[in-house]
Amino acid sequence: MCIIRPMKEWEWIDLPSVGSTNDEAVKYSHEHAKDKFVVTAYRQENGRGRRGRSWIGLEGNLFMSLGVEIPLHRLGQFIFVVTLALAQSIKTLSPRADVKLKWPNDVLVQGRKISGILLEKGARDYIIAGIGVNVKHAPDLVGKSYRSISLSEIGIEIERLELLDVYLSCFDNLFELWERKGFEPLREQWLNMAKGIGETITVVQEQAEKRGIFSGVDSDGLLLLDVNGKIEKICAGDVFFKENKNI
Ligand code: BTN
Repeated sequence: MCIIRPMKEWEWIDLPSVGSTNDEAVKYSHEHAKDKFVVTAYRQENGRGRRGRSWIGLEGNLFMSLGVEIPLHRLGQFIFVVTLALAQSIKTLSPRADVKLKWPNDVLVQGRKISGILLEKGARDYIIAGIGVNVKHAPDLVGKSYRSISLSEIGIEIERLELLDVYLSCFDNLFELWERKGFEPLREQWLNMAKGIGETITVVQEQAEKRGIFSGVDSDGLLLLDVNGKIEKICAGDVFFKENKNI
C-alpha cells in the first residue's frame, strides 16, 4: 500500500484523443519537457505494445506515458519501480486483491494481465514508460497468448484519472526509495510479489527458448534461471509458467 499525495511535482498533459500516448510523450520530451511529466489520453486509437504488437484502447481505461530522466544503464532497475507502483496501487485500492508480478513488465491479477508496459527512449536521458491499465474493460483476447482482466471485474470501481493520482503517489514513493537506498529494497518487494519463484519456467527469446528453475533476479534486475544446476542471467524474453502456457 502507499500514501496518496498530490501530483504537484508532475507536469501533466491530458489529451482528448491520440494515436499513442508514447508518441506524444516522445515528442514532448524533445520540445518542452523540464522535469518529470505524464501524458494521458481519454481515447487512444493506435496504442503500441511490446514486440510490434498493438494495444487495444477500450473506453474508460487508462493510457498514460511517464517521462522521467534516467541514465540508460539504470533502465533494468527502473522497470521494477514502474511495475511495483502499479501492483501497490491495486493493493491500495483493494488490499486483498491477488496481485502478482511477472518478469519483466507484467502485473497480473488472479493470474491474468491487467496492464501493459512499454519502455521507450525519449530525448536526452528521457525514458518514456507507457502504461495501459484495464480500468473498466479487459479486451477480449480470443486467439492471443494471454488472458486479461479489468479492475472493474475485481470490484474496483474507479475513474482513469483517480487511478492516475494513486499510481503517481506510489511511483513517487518507490522512486524516492530507489534514490535513497538503491535497488535492494525494491528487489525484495518485487520478489515478495513475484509469480513462479522456484518453479520451472520457459523463457522465449527472439532466437532461443530456455527452460529452467526461476531462481530470482540479480542486482540489475536480470532474471536468474537455473538450467541444470547452472545459473544463467536473462536480460530479455517472454516468461511462460509450467501450469499455463497462456499467460
Ligand atoms: C504490452 O504489454 O505489449 C505493452 C503495452 C503498452 C500499452 C501502453 S498504453 C499507453 C502507452 N501508449 C502506447 O502506445 N503504448 C503504451
